[in-house]
Amino acid sequence: MSLPIDRLIASLSRTGMTRFFQKLLDEYPDLLMKDQTVEAIRPNRTFQIAGRWLNNFGSDSFLGFDQDPRVQEAISRGVRAWGTHNGSSRAFSSIRPNVTAEEKIADWMGAEAALIYPSVTLANTSALPGLLTRHDVLVADQLAHNSIDEGLKIAKARGVRTAKFAHNDGADLLRMLTDLRPYRHAVIAVDGVYSMSGQLPPLVEFQRIALQNEAILYVDDAHGTGVLGHRGRGTVLEALGNYDNTLVAGSLSKAFSCFGGFVAGPAAAIDLLKLRSNSLIFGGPVPPPYLEGVCTVVDILNSPEYDAIRARLDANVHRLTEGAGALGLVVLGGKVPIVSILVGAEELTLQAGKFLFEQGYYVQSVIFPAVPHGAGVLRIQVNANHVAEQIDGLLAALALLKKALPLPQASTVIQFPGLTTVPESIPA
Ligand SMILES: Cc1ncc(COP(=O)(O)O)c(C=O)c1O
Repeated sequence: MSLPIDRLIASLSRTGMTRFFQKLLDEYPDLLMKDQTVEAIRPNRTFQIAGRWLNNFGSDSFLGFDQDPRVQEAISRGVRAWGTHNGSSRAFSSIRPNVTAEEKIADWMGAEAALIYPSVTLANTSALPGLLTRHDVLVADQLAHNSIDEGLKIAKARGVRTAKFAHNDGADLLRMLTDLRPYRHAVIAVDGVYSMSGQLPPLVEFQRIALQNEAILYVDDAHGTGVLGHRGRGTVLEALGNYDNTLVAGSLSKAFSCFGGFVAGPAAAIDLLKLRSNSLIFGGPVPPPYLEGVCTVVDILNSPEYDAIRARLDANVHRLTEGAGALGLVVLGGKVPIVSILVGAEELTLQAGKFLFEQGYYVQSVIFPAVPHGAGVLRIQVNANHVAEQIDGLLAALALLKKALPLPQASTVIQFPGLTTVPESIPA
């Protein structure tokens, strides 16, 4: 006898998105490598999958802090001092490392205050709806991260009017805000670094539009944290010079290699978010050992050593983008450690990722819905602890790939929203 859950599952498997993924799984069981299990990791940015050692170009740990003995020791020290978890929502109390980490993050970011969330996803899905009421509007870039989209849905369910504007398009943003009038307040939500293409938003133009339209700017800088701007403070301070009308979300999981996310900005706004962020009030905090790790990472970012780590990372990014450009490949981004190479059709993108895998290089094949349909990319993440031989080896594998599969050339760019010509970041 079938149960309600069986009928529910049957209905769900008929939805468009489930059918799309199922079709991919059925058609390309060998190419979709999403069920891979990493069996072992070595400190030199290699790991083992299915018995094979690969150079890992799919890690967000851009500065190599996951392997840094000081960060590892801080986390161990945190376990010894505080146990594995303090087991209480911050609605009741906060432990010392949480408060210290927030003070250190605010100081390092050059912001008045910061608030730590258990992830950037929980920041975006709490802070964005928390900032607005039903008299207000929330507009986001059409390619902003999924968690901004989820924040939009929660805000909408609470009566906030929401809309999405064309990727990185100030004119469309302005048109949208004009169409949405009258409203009381507005929030414009964008990514600081687009994680699938490595592209950056025009923050100065967006801030100008925000100030002229009773709006604030909310920048999810998850992939800028630690790796862009002075001392790794990300894209916002570098572009705007202050956080007067801006909230920035940063990641503690990616370059920080610890756990969590934060929102930084004016102290009065952060105080309000403490009262209006449901994920903080009704959910648990980042475990104390990771907060000790965060404090240690901030100390390293603030030390002269950071310049050397960043120089290694920037040199690796440069080596890869120069090399890929010289091969005539279409390189998106290129100024950040996410270097995406345009491939195009879904099947071709999966084949390209598999080809590199077989050459000993792990990169991610990113296809719809993470990028527009038919605009699949090979997403390469460069780390400070890659050595030149690993980058050169990947370039050699890309040269073989170019011979094996029909990849787009820099002169024949496939349409990608916000990218209709060869991006200027492609090395000449
Ligand atoms: C722009 C952006 N925001 C948020 C996230 C999610 O971050 P978290 O894992 O902390 O939820 C990601 C993850 O890649 C991201 O790229």
